[in-house]
Amino acid sequence: MRHILLLHGPNLNLLGSREPERYGVSTLGEINQQMKELAKSKGTELVSFQSNSEGDLVGQIQSARGRYDAIVINAAAYTHTSIAIRDALLAVDIPAVEVHLSNIYQRESFRQTSRIADVVIGQVSGFGAQSYLLGLLGAISYLETQKQIPEMSGSGKKDT
Ligand code: DQA
Repeated sequence: MRHILLLHGPNLNLLGSREPERYGVSTLGEINQQMKELAKSKGTELVSFQSNSEGDLVGQIQSARGRYDAIVINAAAYTHTSIAIRDALLAVDIPAVEVHLSNIYQRESFRQTSRIADVVIGQVSGFGAQSYLLGLLGAISYLETQKQIPEMSGSGKKDT
């Protein structure tokens, strides 16, 4: 059985009531439940963890080595600031997918930079709670094929 770790960063514990016009009305518990069900339907066990602390998230990534096949992460505000989370992802070398509820590229300029975008296998941004589900499907699909999409890895052949 595959094992996937779902990580949520700061303030995502407030989903449901936090800026619902931007982040939607689903609570974190509801998202976690949907993720677990989708994972189960794909023969995958999903464990979720939320923290407002950067160190806790780094600790979870470090201890994922040897226990999880992939990580789905919404690092929230740490996306834009955390070299520590980036370094932890690089250190454990576990395929990770970055997700965001909002489209970070349509927002303030400080949100348009992700410190982890270039060390993950892919990013899903802007589909609300669906971003998580799409990110999970992306992670599972990656594990099934163990291949990046050629255009994304830069090793693909051009169409003729
Ligand atoms: C977020 C986007 C971040 O900029 C923000 O700090 C969040 C949530 C998202 O899911 O859209 O907390 O990661």
